[in-house]
This record gives sequence, C-alpha cells and structure tokens, in this order.
Amino acid sequence: TSAQIGVTGLAVMGRNLARNFARNGYAVAVHNRTASRTRALLEEFGDEGEFIGAETAAEFVAALERPRRLVIMVKAGDPTDAVIEEFAPLLEDGDVIIDGGNAHFADTRRRERELRERGIHFVGTGISGGEEGALHGPSIMPGGSAESYASLGPLLEKISAKAADGAPCVTHVGPDGAGHFVKMVHNGIEYADMQLIAEAYQLLRDVAGYSPAQIAEVFRTWNTGRLDSYLIEITAEVLSHVDAATGKPFVDVVADQAEQKGTGRWTVQLALELGVPVSGIAEAVFARSLSGHTALREASRGLAGPTAQPLSGAEADAFADQVEQALYASKIVSYTQGFHEIAAGSAEYDWNIDLGAVAAIWRGGCIIRAAFLDRIRAAYDARPDLPSLLADETFATEIAEAQHDWRAVLGAAISQGVPTPGFAAALAYYDSLRADRLPAALTQGQRDYFGAHTYRRTDREGSFHTLWSEDRSEVQA
Ligand code: 6PG
Repeated sequence: TSAQIGVTGLAVMGRNLARNFARNGYAVAVHNRTASRTRALLEEFGDEGEFIGAETAAEFVAALERPRRLVIMVKAGDPTDAVIEEFAPLLEDGDVIIDGGNAHFADTRRRERELRERGIHFVGTGISGGEEGALHGPSIMPGGSAESYASLGPLLEKISAKAADGAPCVTHVGPDGAGHFVKMVHNGIEYADMQLIAEAYQLLRDVAGYSPAQIAEVFRTWNTGRLDSYLIEITAEVLSHVDAATGKPFVDVVADQAEQKGTGRWTVQLALELGVPVSGIAEAVFARSLSGHTALREASRGLAGPTAQPLSGAEADAFADQVEQALYASKIVSYTQGFHEIAAGSAEYDWNIDLGAVAAIWRGGCIIRAAFLDRIRAAYDARPDLPSLLADETFATEIAEAQHDWRAVLGAAISQGVPTPGFAAALAYYDSLRADRLPAALTQGQRDYFGAHTYRRTDREGSFHTLWSEDRSEVQA
C-alpha cells in the first residue's frame, strides 16, 4: 500500500496532525528522526487508521504515492532547512513539501524559490489551534503554488476545522510565503487579543474590585454575546481554576512574567518595515517583555502613583459593563490593524490575498476563533476593497456606541494607575484616524527647521523650505 500523505517530525503537533489525517481515512506515512517516537505513535494510536511507519528517510519517501505530499513538523529555522535537505534529494518533479511549523515567511519565500528551481513544490502553511486543533481540526493557512493546492487542498479541507456554516477553515492564501505571513499576523492579533483581555481582567480586579472567580463569571457572560470567542472562553476557565497546593486562585500563584516565542515580535517588525501602524499588537509584545524585566520592575516598585480604590455594588457592575464596551472597541481596532498589515503584505509581495477568505478560515479551529470573525468576513465580502475595517458601517456604528464607555474606562484606568497600554493604544489610533488635523504638521516644521527636510503645503503643490536662520522666507525646494 502507499500513503496519500506523510508526516515527519512526530512531536505533539506532528503526531496529532498525522492522527487527524488517519482518522479522516487517509493512509499516512509517519517518520521521526528518532524511530522510537514513530513506534510509540503506532503502538498507542495505530488502531485509529492506516499508518505506515518508516524508520529511514528513504523508506518514508518510498511509502508515499505520487505526487508525494510530505508534511514537515519540526522546529522553525535551521532544523526545517536540515529536514528539507534530507528529503529534497529523494523527491521527484511535482512532489510537494509542506512546512507546517511557525516559520518566518521570508524563510518560506526562500525555500519555495530554491525548491521550485529543483522542480519541487514547497507549501509553507500556517496551522493554528494548538495540540487539540491539530488532532480535531485546525485552521490551516497554506501558501505556495496553485498547482500544489490542487493536490493538497482536498486533504486539508477534510482535516481542517469547520466553521459554524460548515465551511472548511482552510483556503489557498496565496503564493510562496503568503500562508506563513497570514499565520504570523494571526499570532500578532492573538497577542493583542490576549493583552486586551488581560487589561480587562486587571480593571475588573482593581477598579471593580471583583475576585478571580467573579471575573470568570463576567467572562462567561461576555462569551454569550458579541465577544463570544475561544480566548474569552478559556480566560473564564483559567480564572476560575484554584491552585491545589495553596487553595489560592491559580492566577495569583503564577509568576507574572509572560513569555513569547517570537511570532508577535515578527508581526511588529514587519509592520515597521511595511509602515503599517499596528500599535495594539506592538503594545501587546512590549507588555510581555516589560513583564519579564524583573530587576527593572523591582527597582521601580517605590515610584509614586495612585492605588486603585475598588468600587462596589451597582457601581462595580456598571463599570464592568463599560469594560466590555472598551474591550470590544479595542478589539475592533486590533483587527483593523492586523488586516491592514495583511493587505500591505499582500500588496508588497503580490500575493493577492482575499481578506474576507482569511477572516472566514479564522472562524474555527484557530486560537483567535470568534463569532466576530464572521462579521469581518461579511464586511470584506460586501466590499473587497474596504480600505479599513473601521470604514465598515457596522463596525463604525458599534465603536460610535462604545466610545463613551471606552473613554470612561481609560479615564478610570489612568486616574487610578492601572496600566492599560492596549486599550489606550487602540483609542489613540482611533482618535488619530478620525482627527481633522494631526500635529504631524508641526513635526514637519521641526524637521524642516533643523534639517531642511522640506514640507508640503495644504494649499499648493510642491515641496517647500523655510529659510529659518535667515529671513524666514519660503523657497520652493
Ligand atoms: C496557534 C498558536 C501557536 C502557539 C503560539 C504561542 O495559532 O496555534 O498561535 O502557534 O501557541 O505561537 O506563541 P507564544 O509562545 O509566542 O505566546
């Protein structure tokens, strides 16, 4: 027999992905650098479907039907290149290598180009949903050639998550690195969502004066409304969890230093290069890194500032409702920024990414899955050239309704000394965009003053310079 798909790299993501293919009726060749992992998979899960265990690279390749489809699930970076180099010489024209790790899209572009020259399709694909998603249905973001998608797409559609309307959460995102780029931005948005939720939690704790268990209830309620999402759901779970050893709320015994593996940072780095303001995502990345600066935090503990005075009763409950508004409005802004970055990447690299389709495949399976994404899909489907999500009438109206509370929450946060970088960045973005005039005009004046960098005028075409150190007359530059 021959396998329709192969998976090499059988750590938990690879193993679960292989099982997902097998459970969906595909014969799956499985391979791992150390063969004990392969044997363990066959022993533990061999009865879930048809697995073909391969001990060597040659056996693995020989087990695959042509054109071969082999999925690499190893660490991003050098290990991925090493595995590609191990298999590529054994492959033939038209075979497809799929990289399902969190690769940087620039690496994916390079690998795709190099392998294309050798007649091999390379599909860098984002896979979101963690271990559970890999097993039961992830959201899948493949890049690469249209030809490779024709051969691979049906399998991915089968194993992917399905949205509420039954649509598979996979689409051919675009050529070369488009899939990994979109996964990168997915993770940036994931960071922003998590940061906004964290700020909402802190406000409910310090300003509303709620306990973690009470806050869990608030999130449970929010999860039945427009904020309905996986991250809100698990937030309630984490907050209601009690530490067995101490009997304290789990959230109070975990060290408050957030870690990161780098995809959020990449999103911001790329945004800087593309000139896209993703301030909410950037604040989320910075909040994580700030939390990890323990010595700096220790040295700063004595700095002056207010201590939050918790509200109580109906006032606390009213404040909690305002936080929901602030969270929702800030979330709209994060997604606006994230989709702007995807649009900018798509234009820069000629990917022609369908933003509505991206929103659609994020509706299920992935970490940021949410009811909300169906509305983003609808907004882009109605107007594929929508310049910004904020230009969509529904979102604009919702923000208009939320903004009073959004501002009130930020006012309370600032006066009571509760840090809310995500909420604040989102509101600043919103107010900057809607401003009639920005102080950028003054910035231009300063640049012209100290460096003769010139400026444009509102009333005439051309570039101008003021002779600041002479008679301050204006000259055409
Ligand atoms: C996903 C997740 C996944 C991973 C993050 C964690 O979509 O399934 O995003 O890719 O859990 O990369 O990232 P940090 O370790 O940087 O928080």
